[in-house]
Amino acid sequence: MDQFYEMIYKRKSVRRYDGKRPLSAVELAEITAQLEKLQPLDSDIPVRFRIVKRGETGCLWGEYCLLLYSEERENYLANAGYLLEQMDLWFASRDIGACWYGMGRADEKKLDGLSFVIMMAFGRCRADAFRKSMSEAKRKPLSAVYTGGAESALERALQTAHYAPSACNSQPWSVVCEEGKLTVSQQSGFKNPLMKNLVGYMNKIDMGIFFCFLELALHHEGYDFRRTLLSDGAAEYTLSEE
Ligand SMILES: Cc1cc2nc3c(=O)[nH]c(=O)nc-3n(C[C@H](O)[C@H](O)[C@H](O)COP(=O)(O)O)c2cc1C
Repeated sequence: MDQFYEMIYKRKSVRRYDGKRPLSAVELAEITAQLEKLQPLDSDIPVRFRIVKRGETGCLWGEYCLLLYSEERENYLANAGYLLEQMDLWFASRDIGACWYGMGRADEKKLDGLSFVIMMAFGRCRADAFRKSMSEAKRKPLSAVYTGGAESALERALQTAHYAPSACNSQPWSVVCEEGKLTVSQQSGFKNPLMKNLVGYMNKIDMGIFFCFLELALHHEGYDFRRTLLSDGAAEYTLSEE
């Protein structure tokens, strides 16, 4: 997964696509092949992917949508976030635009007995559609989500992880660092109580996305770790030097 690290600084949600330059059959075959290589957060959770034309989803942009189906069991939403975020980074590495699309509705709610979870729109975009500077990325200050003193390498890793995308940019993660251990938990990311159900759902996906970024960043800064998934979308990382 480490080859994705640099893509953290390139990716962003792409909402403008070049309809005149469709993806080729070779590119679509590469995408399908890449799906086989994704690392799950929990390998016991069965998942399937489906690629459909955007028109079949009600999604507003992109040429295609990548749909994820999963068995609904503990941590399945975080697992979905963790898996599809690897595709988001891979798409950026191939200059293919992508955007998570939580509002999208799948025509088929079930696939091989698994439930539709979330989709990601993708397609050809302009080369300059990607992020040029991290100052464009709107994120809360790190101090709003992180407590505990840390050596500078760890703080760099957390700053990088904090660039993770999230639904409505809610950034629902909070990280506490104590004695070589990071506890990552989920805060309420949205203020609107009317959206409570949708929010809880999306924020669990967001946590998986954050775990993906955090792990890439920890490895990059030379940390090894043992991850323990906890209930309520939380995880504990016990750190050691690589
Ligand atoms: C789970 C999830 C669902 C999202 N759903 C939508 C969506 O329905 N429509 C949309 O325009 N953006 C959606 N986004 C994109 C976020 O708004 C975006 O990631 C966030 O604002 C941060 O911006 P960035 O991705 O450019 O860094 C979603 C992101 C995530 C992680």
